[in-house]
Amino acid sequence: MSAPATVTIAEVAPRDGLQNESVPVPTDLKVAFIDALSEAGFPVIECTSFVSPRAVPQLADAELVMQRIQRRPGTRYLVLVPNERGLDRALTVGCDAIALFAAATDAFSQANLRASIAETLARYAHVAAQAKRAGCWIRGYVSVAFHCPYSGPVAPEQAVRVAQELFAFGCDEIALADTIGTATPDDVARLLEAVLPSIPKERLALHLHDTYGRALDNVAVALSYGVTTFDAATGGLGGCPFAPGAPGNLATEALLAFLEERGIAHGVDRHAVQRAWSRLRAAVPGLGERARRGGHDTA
Ligand code: COA
Ligand code: ZN
Repeated sequence: MSAPATVTIAEVAPRDGLQNESVPVPTDLKVAFIDALSEAGFPVIECTSFVSPRAVPQLADAELVMQRIQRRPGTRYLVLVPNERGLDRALTVGCDAIALFAAATDAFSQANLRASIAETLARYAHVAAQAKRAGCWIRGYVSVAFHCPYSGPVAPEQAVRVAQELFAFGCDEIALADTIGTATPDDVARLLEAVLPSIPKERLALHLHDTYGRALDNVAVALSYGVTTFDAATGGLGGCPFAPGAPGNLATEALLAFLEERGIAHGVDRHAVQRAWSRLRAAVPGLGERARRGGHDTA
């Protein structure tokens, strides 16, 4: 199979990156960072999460961020929503694209959402219906789709079941997440073989962390299956506070270089990305240290 001509990059540093930073990032800097990423041309930017501020204090300013950013026409500004309360908060500040995040294992679901998979999906059925009525575009995440930091390897069927349920609720896209970055190219091929009969490739995204430097090999495999949406984080920021050992996301800069070498279009201005990252890093000393060290140190 030949590689597609164009891919969609979902830039997740403002959410997956900044949620995991021990250094506080002032709201104004987050807004300036997102605005700079908009200017760089990303079609999708995951901006923040409307979750409990006790769970993720780094993103407690979600309303302010979403009120202040400049929305560029044609860019999708995605926000994470864990429950009805989160949806209400997001809608109040004009969000029109949400991400519901479920896990492939009960152990991770309990750690991240304090609820089982079944409880979470029951809640999301309702939240998705409400979000659709409000005109939202919806992404459904399957966290730990390959490997769980608490319960070990995840059978593809287990991740596929959750993906199918999210898809049945009306999710426009399903993002399969290698939350701790342990997936191999064979794992990616196995999961895609298992999921593609029920979810078309155009509706899938891959969310990769780069723990063992395999994220780009995993992108290559997914491209060969026709998947064209990939998450990446500027500066290789990223990690989940509830996934011990989760280091940075696939770095946007590395993904851009990989795609350019292969002549695959992405629509993002690489220099603008560099400028956005340099400005943020200069303003927040120590940013990214945790991602480079290998994630969260307490769990
Ligand atoms: N926004 C703001 N506050 C919220 C909220 C939301 N969407 N949902 C719940 N809360 C608050 C409640 O008001 C309550 O506040 P209080 O302690 O001051 O009374 C507190 O959070 C606990 O509420 P409860 O409904 O009992 O939730 P919980 O403790 O069972 O936690 C979640 C469930 C889903 C809210 C919480 O685990 C969470 O936000 N998880 C997100 C984790 C995350 O973002 N992980 C990284 C992304 S992969
Ligand atoms: Zn992630």
